[in-house]
Amino acid sequence: MRARRSLVDLSDLTVPEIYALFDRAEAFEAADPGRLLSGTSCVNLFFEQSTRTFTSFNLAELRLGANVVNLWPKDMSLATKGETIEDTAATLSAMGVNVVVVRHSKPGFPNLIMSAFEGHVINAGDGAHAHPTQGLLDLFTIRREFGRIEGLRVALIGDIVHSRVANSTVNGLLQLGAEVVLVGPEVLLPASYSRDGVEIERDFERMLPEVDVVILLRIQRERFNAETMSDADFIAGYQLNAARLPKLKPGAIVMHPGPYNRGMELDDAVTEFTGWRYARQVHNGVYVRMAVLDFLVNGAA
Ligand code: NCD
Repeated sequence: MRARRSLVDLSDLTVPEIYALFDRAEAFEAADPGRLLSGTSCVNLFFEQSTRTFTSFNLAELRLGANVVNLWPKDMSLATKGETIEDTAATLSAMGVNVVVVRHSKPGFPNLIMSAFEGHVINAGDGAHAHPTQGLLDLFTIRREFGRIEGLRVALIGDIVHSRVANSTVNGLLQLGAEVVLVGPEVLLPASYSRDGVEIERDFERMLPEVDVVILLRIQRERFNAETMSDADFIAGYQLNAARLPKLKPGAIVMHPGPYNRGMELDDAVTEFTGWRYARQVHNGVYVRMAVLDFLVNGAA
């Protein structure tokens, strides 16, 4: 195997590499690339629940002809028999596993695996830290829609503080030259999140006519500590709905990493809106993950 390369966050990729991944994903969608991962063994190690990301990685691996093993924590010695994650990683290495795709509630967990595993590690979400393939598929979806990312104005709405998707997508947008607006109440979006290229806006309706892309996020109540916020207050201030959709700039699109909660961050009018791109995102995600797997395992050529 070539020198191992892993993907923990988008900062592991250069801008030319991100664009090369987009080109590769487009080529894979246009024509079945065949069994580029024939003989490669992938283990999907999901400690947190997942529907989309888990299925998407599985399909990407299978479409490239990889061997795939899915492990859930209840099946693993480290959950019940006292084994450390580093020892589990060394075990998988010794068996000849080439790729580990991992999701865990602890930020930095993929790095523990990298320290003891000789193959490639792909972060499928670590706590509120990062979710790089979701970031890539969001960027890919935006680029396909507008033909570019540079100079676009992109807003992320709602639960920024608990969102690894927001972190990775914002990092990627900044790398590729977009302007980012974060929108939400103080409890979900502290003022300290403002930085170069990132504005903070508390007034959702004022922002709507000014952006090309609106990315909605789920309220992640399972990650709340002492924070308090009523659903009614959030809905009144920040729900995208039939009343607010007409305020969007013509041609603007609305995205969501999923899972979305009808009645909270959006209502039914949004999922019927012509600019709703959720299905495109999940569709694109399989090709983007195929591209990431091929890039890590087979190299840049
Ligand atoms: C989310 C995640 O788990 O990071 N979804 C995803 O992977 N597409 C976001 C969430 O749980 O709200």
